[in-house]
Amino acid sequence: MTQNKIKILAIETSCDETSAAVIEDGKRILSNIISSQRDTHSLYGGVVPEIASREHLKLLVPVVEKSLALAGVELDDIDALAVTRGPGLVGPLLVGLSYAKALSYAKRIPIIPLNHIKCHIYANFLEDSLTKNQGMELEFPLMALVVSGGHSDIIYLKSHHELEIVGETLDDAAGEAFDKIARALDLGYPGGPEIDKLAREGKPKEVEFPRATLKERSYDFSFSGLKSAVLNYLNQCKMKNEPINKEDIALGFQQSVIDQLVTNTLKACKERQVEELLIAGGVSANSALREEFKERAEKKGIRVSFPPPILCTDNAAMVGACGYWYYVSGRIEKIQNRLDLNAVPNLSLEDN
Ligand code: KG4
Ligand code: ZN
Repeated sequence: MTQNKIKILAIETSCDETSAAVIEDGKRILSNIISSQRDTHSLYGGVVPEIASREHLKLLVPVVEKSLALAGVELDDIDALAVTRGPGLVGPLLVGLSYAKALSYAKRIPIIPLNHIKCHIYANFLEDSLTKNQGMELEFPLMALVVSGGHSDIIYLKSHHELEIVGETLDDAAGEAFDKIARALDLGYPGGPEIDKLAREGKPKEVEFPRATLKERSYDFSFSGLKSAVLNYLNQCKMKNEPINKEDIALGFQQSVIDQLVTNTLKACKERQVEELLIAGGVSANSALREEFKERAEKKGIRVSFPPPILCTDNAAMVGACGYWYYVSGRIEKIQNRLDLNAVPNLSLEDN
């Protein structure tokens, strides 16, 4: 007997990407439409929340329609809706959540509200025919590092629904530091991909910046001291009328961020005796970060996985992958058709 495949329509609008995807059995991407507002926001050097909300309003319906059409399915074929409810920008979150609630009510489709940070981890499990990515097989316990524009968290997962934050940033998130330094160097927004590109042309160890040293048993990060060090360096060059080599600065800055991320994450894996490590979030698209993690994790016998770059940054496919495990665990019964669901801009990971 062939079992029906579970199809989830997922919606992601937590920041500046309007995205909808249809995911089958938590793994197969039938469609994943991502409409980025990057060009609009780059005019202002960063995301303008009010503009992001208006763009989501304009884009969401066509993005969802395109996603269903590309997957070759209709709303009647959808088993559940998965939607991001936080953390993120309240206006953008509300657009996606309100739309999902309306669809859920009109078509009697159950709704699964999800935590954006947790969803990033699930990008590692997706099969992607475009990039020929196989997707990881799940083996708990896992350690995950989510590094994005708003978060830098080391997370220990005992199972799908039991997780613990082992380390987090005490100030700026890694992606935020990339964006701020890129702005100081007059690079475009978002800054991460620009610094990534520029750093490849930099001379190693020509310009070096400090790494934050925290207490021995701490797995937390701190990037604000590094940010100040780069800004001071730039000011001093200007005052002394010395030339600024952006490539060397980009490399020195990036190397300091990567070193902190890799060192703390591998230390956490060792302490918890975890051999499976998943990296996720926008910053995990960084080419040097991927190389350094692979090299240093392998030496310690830790298997490390990254999503393909397109699934590192915000997308709805990861939301559909995460939603599947709520669906099959029966958690959906409790939340079916809840019209009182609200966006939670500072939703904590432990409250998933
Ligand atoms: O996960 P994401 O798309 O959105 C959030 O949930 O925040 O992450 C966006 C962040 C931005 O700060 C961006 O500069 C950074 O990810 N990013 C990168 C790269 N690509 C995106 N950082 C470093 N290197 C990259 N290649
Ligand atoms: Zn994100």
